[in-house]
Amino acid sequence: MKYEKKLFQGKTLAILSGGGDTPAINSSIEAVRNRASLLGFKVYGILQGWKGLLGDGNVVDLTNQPYDGYYGGTALRSSRTNPFPSKKNPESRVPQLLKNFDRYKIDVLVTIGGDDTNGAAKRLFETEGIPVIGFPKTIDNDLRTRTTHHYNGKDIEAVLCPGFPSAAMSVMEFTASLRTTAESHSRIIVMEVMGRDAGWLTGSAIFGGGMLGLIPEFEITKARKDLFFETVKEAFMNSKKKCLIIPVSEGTRWYDEKTGKVDVVYASSEVDEYGHPRFGGVSGVIASEISAKLGNEARAQISGYYPRSGHCRHYDRRLTSTLADKVVDLLLREEYGQMPVMNKIVPFVELEEFNTTSIDMGAVGNKPLSDDYYDINKFSFTDAYSDFLTNILGKPEHDEFRYDFPVVIP
Ligand code: F6P
Repeated sequence: MKYEKKLFQGKTLAILSGGGDTPAINSSIEAVRNRASLLGFKVYGILQGWKGLLGDGNVVDLTNQPYDGYYGGTALRSSRTNPFPSKKNPESRVPQLLKNFDRYKIDVLVTIGGDDTNGAAKRLFETEGIPVIGFPKTIDNDLRTRTTHHYNGKDIEAVLCPGFPSAAMSVMEFTASLRTTAESHSRIIVMEVMGRDAGWLTGSAIFGGGMLGLIPEFEITKARKDLFFETVKEAFMNSKKKCLIIPVSEGTRWYDEKTGKVDVVYASSEVDEYGHPRFGGVSGVIASEISAKLGNEARAQISGYYPRSGHCRHYDRRLTSTLADKVVDLLLREEYGQMPVMNKIVPFVELEEFNTTSIDMGAVGNKPLSDDYYDINKFSFTDAYSDFLTNILGKPEHDEFRYDFPVVIP
């Protein structure tokens, strides 16, 4: 087909990424850019999320540029800028944004983001008529993507967001590495995992040998704390190598003896433009309480930005390509205000367009981990969750140093 005969010739599609980065954003950008170019669009990248549409704008041309989709993070960079009035910034920046939309002659905007970025985009579509298509993204995996997980004759409402598969793989590998130091010192390591208000990512530690687990969805009251300590003691005694790695979500709600309240541990009192505070430090609190209560050597390890960093993993690479195929469908139908999602949880080889659908991109967060996936009485993830992870990560990964040294009797 000759270039001039292309469907969207003369039109411009712009892409932006907002919120916390993930290892799969560049892959999403590349996949959308490639398909939009084939359709005939000129493709722009807006730098630093919504911030790149303020002032005079900060826009780059991505058409025909080399692009490495395996490289993690986002080459378009990101910000947590909210174009709508917020507590932190009461002024509406929508007029500036509209001005730049006209100046750069943008016809369609694809927003790669979570609930905040896509929620703002949906609002622009509804109030200003800006043609937007959302693209899911978060390591927290807490957007309501309405993805069904078929397990044991039951349909469970699950979630699948690009970025989560790569981050989950890193959490699995990180946990598997921690095991050797935990084993060597017969320690309990309380490993803190990002995820804000959801425990999806924390659960991926079980594939690296993590035992038990605490997630934000189920708070640890005074009574539950006692039960938790008993469960830890028992799990430690029963562990083959006399050590444990306990994954805990950064947003775990933990009973504080001093205040008599159940709350999260905050890393800072500051909030972003969408009103989110930063969590961090609960692993230290839990580890020292375990030491004090049970007498075990317990240590805290914050996995922090590690799962968010590094290259895009294969599952994410194919997931982003598949969802980008659905973006083509939405563009051809001119269906805006929509976001492509997988309609069911599938293994790598079934990441195909026929398994996708699209949903309304407004108000898609926050989908907590359901009790199908977490056993509140055992403080552990269920077999259904292992099955969910098997689709995405394949098999659990942790080596074991097997030895049965003969004991020397003098
Ligand atoms: O939403 C993604 C996320 O990585 C959360 O898991 C975490 O709480 C937050 O972002 C950290 O944000 P920041 O990059 O501002 O430290």
